[in-house]
Amino acid sequence: MDSEKSFEETDLLREDDVNLDVESRTYPRRKPWTSCIIGLLSLVVALETIWLVLLGTREAPNPALNLYSPANAAVRYNTVKLDADDQNPYVHQKSTDVLDQMWMDLYDFGTVGLSTSEAAQLVDQTKPTPNDPDTYPVMITVFHNIHCLNLIRKALWREDYPDALEMTEFGTVNRTAPKALHIDHCVNSIREAMMCSADITPIPFHTVNETDLHVFPELAATHTCRDFDAIREWARPRQVEAWKMDIQLHDDDV
Ligand SMILES: *[C@@H]1O[C@H](CO)[C@@H](O)[C@H](O)[C@H]1NC(C)=O
Ligand SMILES: *[C@@H]1O[C@H](CO)[C@@H](O)[C@H](O)[C@H]1NC(C)=O
Repeated sequence: MDSEKSFEETDLLREDDVNLDVESRTYPRRKPWTSCIIGLLSLVVALETIWLVLLGTREAPNPALNLYSPANAAVRYNTVKLDADDQNPYVHQKSTDVLDQMWMDLYDFGTVGLSTSEAAQLVDQTKPTPNDPDTYPVMITVFHNIHCLNLIRKALWREDYPDALEMTEFGTVNRTAPKALHIDHCVNSIREAMMCSADITPIPFHTVNETDLHVFPELAATHTCRDFDAIREWARPRQVEAWKMDIQLHDDDV
């Protein structure tokens, strides 16, 4: 014990000079039973660590789920080959009615109602709906972001959606009117989401034919994805009923 204490003292003295000297002399001496308790505690911590390591081999730790979301339990992971080419069904090769419905099906239930006890666990508090004090609405971020992407899509296809942006009398887009400002907000929201999730899937390069050695990115790559359908099936039955809300959350009637 004594040698331990003097080692501590000299160590502290070496690091800093006079000030620490006074403090280190006031340290109480350790009693034998304190050492026993420390030993027992160390054993418990060691056993717990082994247990956690064993658990960890079954399921990778996921810090993204450390913060409470009512949808945490709906999160599943799949390995998916995503094909980012233009042969996907969400492009403008069909009637806008069909296309609009397909897009709406991706997010048009994004405001879910929480119980009082679920709402109490939120990191960022929410307010109850104006017409029902027992329902606490939250938007689930992924659905808000797809809604945003849909607004950007409509603004890009103005021949199909003439009301997607307010125009000036000179036929140019009014950049200070609400719809253009909303789209700016949407671009930022999607930027943040992409930086936040930071998909690190490598996109490989390929050649076009055997005689030409130039390489081009091959966007079809294998990603680890959250199971979007599972999150959608979680959210759909929890959608806040319209009568509980007084405000229109989605400005999609363009
Ligand atoms: C653009 O929209 C704003 C807000 O609605 C309006 O006050 C302004 O007059 C519009 N500008 C033009 C040139 O139309
Ligand atoms: C392969 O690429 C070369 C160079 O671009 C081109 O001349 C040739 O026609 C291509 N061959 C085929 C089979 O596409």
